[in-house]
Amino acid sequence: MIIAIDGPAGAGKSTVAKAVATQLGFAYVNTGAMYRAVALCALEAGFALPENESEIVALARHLPIALHDAGSRVFVSERDITDLIRTAQVGDFTSRVSALPGVREVIVAQQRRIGRESEAECGGAVLEGRDIQTVVFPDAPVKIYLDASPAERARRRLSEWTLKSGGAAAPFSLEEAERDITGRDERDSTRETSPLCAADDAEHVITDGLTPDEVVARIVAIVERRAGGV
Ligand code: C5P
Repeated sequence: MIIAIDGPAGAGKSTVAKAVATQLGFAYVNTGAMYRAVALCALEAGFALPENESEIVALARHLPIALHDAGSRVFVSERDITDLIRTAQVGDFTSRVSALPGVREVIVAQQRRIGRESEAECGGAVLEGRDIQTVVFPDAPVKIYLDASPAERARRRLSEWTLKSGGAAAPFSLEEAERDITGRDERDSTRETSPLCAADDAEHVITDGLTPDEVVARIVAIVERRAGGV
């Protein structure tokens, strides 16, 4: 079974998708991390856009991206890039790199292969991203559109930062975080190739005011309902 979870940055997709996958014994695939891997390697190679579009597409085609540790760590060959892809610079370049049709074609093919292999190996996969239910697996039996208000997503980003840095003051304000989030939403949902949007038959889950456990329980209930053919 393929479980497709899409939604904007900061809606809680990663936390929730990982927990749903663990609970069901399925593989977890963070598709944003795959685009981030391409963006990181393109930046390291000194590529810029729009001038290096063809070089970036060629790089994506030959990049040996691998997901390890139940999908929580991202490798390129033997190199663990999990932390390197989380910087603001990489995040920003990723939303430009992921708008390139040539890059999407290559990465979507890899995502479909991972999904199919996971179904054969462990019965299913939970894929989270922006276009899983509309492009990668439009026939997925479970489609979830996860969302939260920009203010809530900005609050989460700030508290995540504070938690990771051991309580130090974040180098950005709540207003800046919200501006960054709405800017990324705008880019992701207005681009020509695979814009972020909910499939017509997606179940919408709004996570404002819900704990991750509550969101996971809702999604697992939807999966059970769909598995029972309802
Ligand atoms: O999910 P995450 O925030 O790590 O994704 C980083 C960027 O990758 C997004 O802002 C989006 O531009 C792009 N992305 C995408 N399609 C996906 C997943 C991510 O275009 N399926």
